[in-house]
Amino acid sequence: MSLKSKVALVTGASSGIGKATAVKLAANGFRVGLAARRVDRLVEIEQEIRRAGGEAIAIEMDVVSEASVEAGVKGLVEAFGAVDIVFNNAGLMPISDVETLKTAEWHRMVDVNIKGVLNTTAAVLPYMIAQSSGHIVTTSSIAGRKVFPGLSVYCATKHAMTAFSEGLRLELAPKHNIRVTCIQPGAVETELFEQITDENYASQMEGLKEQMTFLKADDIADTVLFALQAPAHVNVAEIFVLPTQQAW
Ligand SMILES: NC(=O)c1ccc[n+]([C@@H]2O[C@H](COP(=O)([O-])OP(=O)(O)OC[C@H]3O[C@@H](n4cnc5c(N)ncnc54)[C@H](OP(=O)(O)O)[C@@H]3O)[C@@H](O)[C@H]2O)c1
Repeated sequence: MSLKSKVALVTGASSGIGKATAVKLAANGFRVGLAARRVDRLVEIEQEIRRAGGEAIAIEMDVVSEASVEAGVKGLVEAFGAVDIVFNNAGLMPISDVETLKTAEWHRMVDVNIKGVLNTTAAVLPYMIAQSSGHIVTTSSIAGRKVFPGLSVYCATKHAMTAFSEGLRLELAPKHNIRVTCIQPGAVETELFEQITDENYASQMEGLKEQMTFLKADDIADTVLFALQAPAHVNVAEIFVLPTQQAW
């Protein structure tokens, strides 16, 4: 199978980094499963991709639900015959100080940012092992390398993803020919900050936009494509990509 006919599942494809990556992969010949909860948006993106001559299908998926993820992956395989790549990208960042005890937000981050990735990885892995090839790309963050006040739980979830990716690489790459890439972006202009309910942190994060030119979602899409297009013997294990002006 040529690189250009590969099938990629992208979670969090309804906006931001996931949307940009899905559109870029489709423009480069990948067949793309667009997964998220807001299916109306996914259908629009699917149509945009098809109008441009690419192949994609919208898949309503809540990554927190194992049943939803399994059904979505099954639908993708029925439509395109395989799943060669997963971009584990769905995530959220409702940050706050620990002492404010926004425990529902902590649990939501653990559910989506950690368990969601475990669910999608578990759903695609049997197909990849059976075909002795695959590529698992996960969006961690600069918050998966460093810790910042107000981001304790978010950082914990993203550190977990950095660790999980490295564990996957060690276990799967040599034995099953499955490559594993962990993407660690700095500040990217997306809808991510809209989830922040703490007014202080919401305005602090918005203020960052005046201090630096954020990365565009398309910049991260370029890094994903770079890792996917590397020759088969090359595993790009980590990509740490930041705005040039980001000083932390
Ligand atoms: N923006 C940054 O500065 C930055 C930096 C480093 C890392 N990241 C990471 O990049 C990833 C993408 O975020 P983004 O910046 O592109 O933000 P975004 O525009 O808010 O996108 C988040 C995506 O996650 C999806 N999602 C959330 N909960 C979901 C669920 N339960 N099931 C399925 N999909 C779900 C959303 O879709 P639905 O709401 O339609 O389900 C949406 O498509 C996240 O993992 C984030 O932590 C972002």
